[in-house]
Amino acid sequence: MKITVIGAGNVGATVAQLLANQELANEIILVDVLEGIPEGKSLDMYESMPVLESDSKIFGTSNYEMTADSDIVIQTAGLARKPGMTRDDLLIKNAEIVSSCISQAFKYSPNAFYIIVSNPLDVMTFLAGKVTGLPRNKVVGMAGILDTARYRSFISMEIGVSMQDIQGMILGGHGDTMVPLPRYTTVAGIPVTDLIPKDRMDAICARAAGGGGEIVKYLKTGSAYYAPAAAAVQMVESIVKDQKRILPCSVMLEGEYGVTGAVVGVPVKLGKNCVEEIIELKLNDEEMTAFNKSVDHVRGTMKEASELLKL
Ligand code: LAC
Repeated sequence: MKITVIGAGNVGATVAQLLANQELANEIILVDVLEGIPEGKSLDMYESMPVLESDSKIFGTSNYEMTADSDIVIQTAGLARKPGMTRDDLLIKNAEIVSSCISQAFKYSPNAFYIIVSNPLDVMTFLAGKVTGLPRNKVVGMAGILDTARYRSFISMEIGVSMQDIQGMILGGHGDTMVPLPRYTTVAGIPVTDLIPKDRMDAICARAAGGGGEIVKYLKTGSAYYAPAAAAVQMVESIVKDQKRILPCSVMLEGEYGVTGAVVGVPVKLGKNCVEEIIELKLNDEEMTAFNKSVDHVRGTMKEASELLKL
């Protein structure tokens, strides 16, 4: 297994480190345009492997040639939000960065699966699909796992139970319009709606939807990276180990949920063929209305990106 991580910033470096610690790849290539940074961070991580008892080998470079024949490429490069910005504010800059990185990586790894982490997430996943022309099962965005991880953390804080016992689902775009689904959330099999009153659940859903912004407000100069990196690595693990986990990820819909031609978060099965299935949940009217609103929002930004890059 050879995995390329594009972007040696906080998210990319943390992804590389987690992949190596968990020995999910024999070879990890960390790429960045900033000369010296990917080399230095990679060597530092490489040197931690004897202590961590992992045989993953990490190399840093600014040259995509070294990424050749990767099995998985993870796109993290791009600008991060500053306080007061929405993810969509990053569109113009990150559209250029993501399309350039992905087309360079694709030249050397046409058979890889592409996991997109750069924001605005759903639109960048759409762009990566356009740039590579790959079928939708091979280009997938990381967002739902992160959003549900926040949601599960807040539920755990609320009722004081293990996070491991909390299962949850969030659909839609990775932004303010995301749709947490309390009806599809359980604690050790018990519906969360039986355990937490509606007003408290509403507050938890709102905090999860604003979870990225909450971190940006604290950090001031950038956005979250520990949880985003952990989420991306969970996707890799499910693919590499063919676990077939059902995880919310961003993918191009072609009729599912009554939506065609938009990239948004839905539950998918991730295994050795990357996205192996899209799972359609039965939504009630209120959930469907919220989901459609989120889809419309993403469609608007997709259109902007297409016009921008003349796709
Ligand atoms: C977040 C950003 C990275 O949700 O999208 O933290």
